Amino acid sequence: MISHQFKALTVTRSDQNGFKREVVSRNVEDLPDHDVLVQVHYSSLNYKDALSASGHRGVTRNYPHTPGIDAAGIVESDRGGTYARGDPVVIIGYDLGMNTDGGFGQYIRIPAGWVVPLPEGLTLRESMIYGTAGFTAAMAIDRLERHAIEAGQGEILVTGATGGLGVMTVALLSQLGFEVVAATGKLERQGFLREVGASRVISREQVTEGHQQPLMSRRWTAAVDAVGGAMLDAALKSVSDGGAVAACGNVASGALNTTVFPFILRGVTLYGIDSAHFSLEERKDLWAKIAGPWKIRSLERLATEKGLVDLDPEIDRILRGQQTGRILVNLGH
Ligand SMILES: NC(=O)c1ccc[n+]([C@@H]2O[C@H](COP(=O)([O-])OP(=O)(O)OC[C@H]3O[C@@H](n4cnc5c(N)ncnc54)[C@H](OP(=O)(O)O)[C@@H]3O)[C@@H](O)[C@H]2O)c1
Repeated sequence: MISHQFKALTVTRSDQNGFKREVVSRNVEDLPDHDVLVQVHYSSLNYKDALSASGHRGVTRNYPHTPGIDAAGIVESDRGGTYARGDPVVIIGYDLGMNTDGGFGQYIRIPAGWVVPLPEGLTLRESMIYGTAGFTAAMAIDRLERHAIEAGQGEILVTGATGGLGVMTVALLSQLGFEVVAATGKLERQGFLREVGASRVISREQVTEGHQQPLMSRRWTAAVDAVGGAMLDAALKSVSDGGAVAACGNVASGALNTTVFPFILRGVTLYGIDSAHFSLEERKDLWAKIAGPWKIRSLERLATEKGLVDLDPEIDRILRGQQTGRILVNLGH
């Protein structure tokens, strides 16, 4: 049994029923009792991590806890023998960082069934610029393509566009030749969104205005939504006949009040995207696509690198909806 100390950003309950985040020293022996021990080189910050880091019980029930739903690193040992010492691997989703110590620690121990070999064509660092946000963007786009949504058919709406999921979706869609309309609350970042690949940038209100009506004018072929609530309602009511909406997130609201008219008068389809429970086989196939034909050419401009000690303000920023792009976490190995 390896016994050594490592650094982790750990969240503990503070006296006033609040939560405190600090970088502490932990011991590998205290990690959960699973087969695969991984030395984590990179992680990334997602909205779900910020919920976990602020005591959201829907994500994490027990504290002290180390968040981080994403991790990429090198296998140190595998009791089950599936992986060899030195294998580069990627882990996103399942219970990582929720109620299992996550990628904001320099080591994780997880079941072999959560592990994907680092796909050929990606470095550990690049895999975490994608992380859950990029993987989910790819899942949503793959879902739309299987719905026969093709480039050249019209505009695709992306909501929460400056966020992690939004930016990855805009970048990938535009590289695949789609015309992307980015909806954002940060119009001052429209230059960035255009650089990333948006053909047009509009405000959140330009999407939601009039959404209380039973149906809205046909505006988009499809939509990828990170926001929920009125935004998702508006997206459903404004995609054209036979179109599709991929619902991915709930930063504004988990509620959906809508009408049946988009479904029964326009044949619109609502797809739910759940990256955490995607099967391992499908996960490997999608990672291969992400690392190969779908590899985003200018990944680095989508991310800002931070160390564990710099994460606290970034977590607050993502909770306020003020983050732009991806935060790549360097674990310092
Ligand atoms: N289903 C899945 O498997 C999956 C995977 C990854 C993420 N998600 C979910 O997707 C959502 C986004 O995650 P993320 O990591 O990309 O978060 P993020 O980086 O914080 O991005 C969210 C973006 O949404 C917009 N926004 C924030 N608050 C808003 C509000 N009240 N009303 C309207 N827009 C708002 C902001 O973009 P603008 O300022 O540009 O509008 C913000 O940057 C979260 O709900 C997350 O849980 C789900």
